[in-house]
Amino acid sequence: MNYRHAFHAGNFADCVKHALLVWLVRALQRKDKPAFFLDTHAGRGRYDLESAEARRTGEWRDGIARLRAAPDPVLGDYLGVVEQLGLYPGSPLLIRALMRAGDRLACCEWHAEEAAALKRLFAGDPAVAVHRRDGWEALGALLPPPERRGLTLIDPPFEAEDEFERLADGLRRAHRRFATGVLAAWYPIKSRARTRPFHALLRESGFAEALVVEFCLRPPLDPARLNGSGLIVVNPPFGFAAAAPALLAALHTRLATEAGGFYALVPLAEAFVG
Ligand SMILES: C[S@@+](CC[C@H](N)C(=O)[O-])C[C@H]1O[C@@H](n2cnc3c(N)ncnc32)[C@H](O)[C@@H]1O
Repeated sequence: MNYRHAFHAGNFADCVKHALLVWLVRALQRKDKPAFFLDTHAGRGRYDLESAEARRTGEWRDGIARLRAAPDPVLGDYLGVVEQLGLYPGSPLLIRALMRAGDRLACCEWHAEEAAALKRLFAGDPAVAVHRRDGWEALGALLPPPERRGLTLIDPPFEAEDEFERLADGLRRAHRRFATGVLAAWYPIKSRARTRPFHALLRESGFAEALVVEFCLRPPLDPARLNGSGLIVVNPPFGFAAAAPALLAALHTRLATEAGGFYALVPLAEAFVG
């Protein structure tokens, strides 16, 4: 367990994931009924971009710093929450900032220090439960929620060799327990050699109708680099396929300055089979 999100907070992949997450949370709130949010790999909740870790990589300078320097109204909802919260918000804090009275959030974090920081952040907040537990195991234990409406974000660190397989298995288990819930699963794009079998595995698991969003800074050819990131969205809320391209276009203009970068949103049935 070496991964620390503090080195990467606010980078291009975080911005893409979080801008889409904000849209998905808002979409679940169109109905006047409580929603449940599960963040299986939550991190510490907020990040100081002046910390030694953030300064070491400087990744946020090519991410959130660029979006702040030239704000696009399409990203206004996401950027507004980021500004309002001060330090760069992780997924649990973003979700919490958007929650209505009656909504609930459960977050899991396995790393002891990160979990302790997250517990401090939400101490005394009755709408948020922080668990120091395995997020994969929590998919079985915390789903389905009594609300019967909700979003599960699965955002593992991809340290383990078999993380793509674990993610596919996690999606299958979550969907079996809570068939109508929205699932959003993040994955890195280094090379197609890793993502193609992942997509095939998901298609075989019955997720052909899920949507795949991909955002690449450059063609995914160098397997040693994070060339892009993806999000699998199972049971996308109505309007997601129509709204997401505008968000992605605004992100792409500001974040993807290299030749060959692209973004795409396609059903998994059609995803990057070539
Ligand atoms: C990519 S980061 C999460 C970032 C966060 N979702 C966000 O968007 O702000 C992945 C996190 O998962 C934690 N982690 C690793 N293995 C875990 C496990 N089995 N269960 C729960 N958390 C885990 C890591 O410590 C790390 O904080």
